[in-house]
Amino acid sequence: MKICCIGAGYVGVPTCAVIALKNPQIEVTVVDVNQARIEAWDSDKLPIYEPGLKEIVDEVRGKNLFFSSDVDQGIEKGSIIFVCVNTPTKLSGFGKGFSADLKYIETATRRIAKVAKSDKIVVEKSTVPCKTAESMRAILQAGSQKDVHFNILSNPEFLAEGTAIPNLLHPDRILIGCLETKSGMKAAATLADVYAAWTPREQILTLNLWSSELSKLAANALLAQRISSINSLSAICEATGANVNEVANACGLDSRIGPKFLQASVGFGGSCFQKDILNLVYLSESLHLPEVAEYWRQVISINEYQKMRFVRRVVSCLFNTLDGKRVALFGFAFKKDTSDTRESPAIALCKYLLAEGAKISIYDPQVEAGQIYLDLSDKTADICTDAYGAATNAHAIIICTEWDEFKDTNLDYKKIYDSMVQPAFLFDGRSIIDSERLCKIGFHVESIGKEAKVPSSSFTHRHQISQSF
Ligand code: UDX
Ligand code: UDX
Repeated sequence: MKICCIGAGYVGVPTCAVIALKNPQIEVTVVDVNQARIEAWDSDKLPIYEPGLKEIVDEVRGKNLFFSSDVDQGIEKGSIIFVCVNTPTKLSGFGKGFSADLKYIETATRRIAKVAKSDKIVVEKSTVPCKTAESMRAILQAGSQKDVHFNILSNPEFLAEGTAIPNLLHPDRILIGCLETKSGMKAAATLADVYAAWTPREQILTLNLWSSELSKLAANALLAQRISSINSLSAICEATGANVNEVANACGLDSRIGPKFLQASVGFGGSCFQKDILNLVYLSESLHLPEVAEYWRQVISINEYQKMRFVRRVVSCLFNTLDGKRVALFGFAFKKDTSDTRESPAIALCKYLLAEGAKISIYDPQVEAGQIYLDLSDKTADICTDAYGAATNAHAIIICTEWDEFKDTNLDYKKIYDSMVQPAFLFDGRSIIDSERLCKIGFHVESIGKEAKVPSSSFTHRHQISQSF
């Protein structure tokens, strides 16, 4: 059997690498229109950082995993075609700012229709609005050669960046959505066999095509909703003296609630949560369900509010002006263990800080300087090679990403404190440091969802801060 995957991105490559590793008898080819990206996948420096991925790629590349920019040949040879192209939010036209832009899905589908000379199972892996498979079927049927048959399956991917490899190796579940026809069920069984090479059969669910498409949007919306819920509570904690970590722990111990996805933060980021909720909002509106749309829209509103609220706290603590002051950002990626910056809360924070006249220094262990400049549309930020360099001469540090190396057990915060302008402020947007301990060093510490920790000798602006909220 041969598998072809269109789209050599964050989803396509880790998924195919694991499929190839666990199915040595299957030849897997990942194709992409972006020649440079394909060359990077074929080199020693992979284009994305994902723990454990390089080891697997090194093991299977050239054996049964191949990268190619010859999209047509890949399609022709594969009997299963995964469609893993990106589906960004539309930037103009109907549904602008909400609806998913399906132009890449359509291009890929038209290509499959044109090139295929034998029957294919076409697998939707990209996150798509409900009923996209129907449009794909129309395109495939209209544009294909005679006697070529297609079966369309929905097989959404639930991997999270930074933990993609363990998520793929030990999935909670695999969803395979198909039409309830004989050939649809047969196609689903063929794909199930690929996953069954390493996943227990009872975790592979075959379900209705539309349920499968919607489940992906629903799962991401529910996860994001938990983060917005805990983040909304973090605002109450800061105002009352409650500690959001204690509240999350206390609630998470209830087995009906559970402990995961209750980590308060400066806001969620990443390529999926916002896009998928906007998509759900658009879908609800299209279905004339405005109350449902409004309900999910609130998850995004709280996320925007959380980022803005955090910067307001920074400005307020720094005597209500950032003009000319250096602020160091620890972390720029949207979460730890990835180089991905898509929708990273750090981008919004930096834009607010720059608008206030701050000078910013940024250190992230994995994100390249060029990417940061691109995200900020600004070249004035200093990109540093370590946390110490970023903090030197800064008035404040903001922990934007929860990289382990920023924990107080891994960095010499005394050395950092001594290199900063006094009084030195530390804003922990991920609640990862021991504020008590850093306060003893001399820092004025403000953590998300917690009261400020102010060294006893220093002047406190709590009154001023509480007034500004
Ligand atoms: C994926 C999903 O597909 C998206 O729907 C989901 O919401 C998030 O994860 P991702 O793998 O993160 O997207 O996207 P990206 O890293 O941008 O990779 C997509 C690749 O597809 C790019 O390398 C792009 O060059 C390629 N592509 C796009 C094609 O090969 N052909 C096209 O027509 C369009
Ligand atoms: C998400 C889904 O988890 C995954 O199943 C889906 O396939 C793609 O979208 P991803 O965006 O890669 O994965 O990472 P995730 O771990 O979900 O984190 C998303 C954002 O939420 C990050 O910015 C993260 O820092 C933030 N987050 C996560 C919190 O703020 N608090 C939490 O408790 C968890």
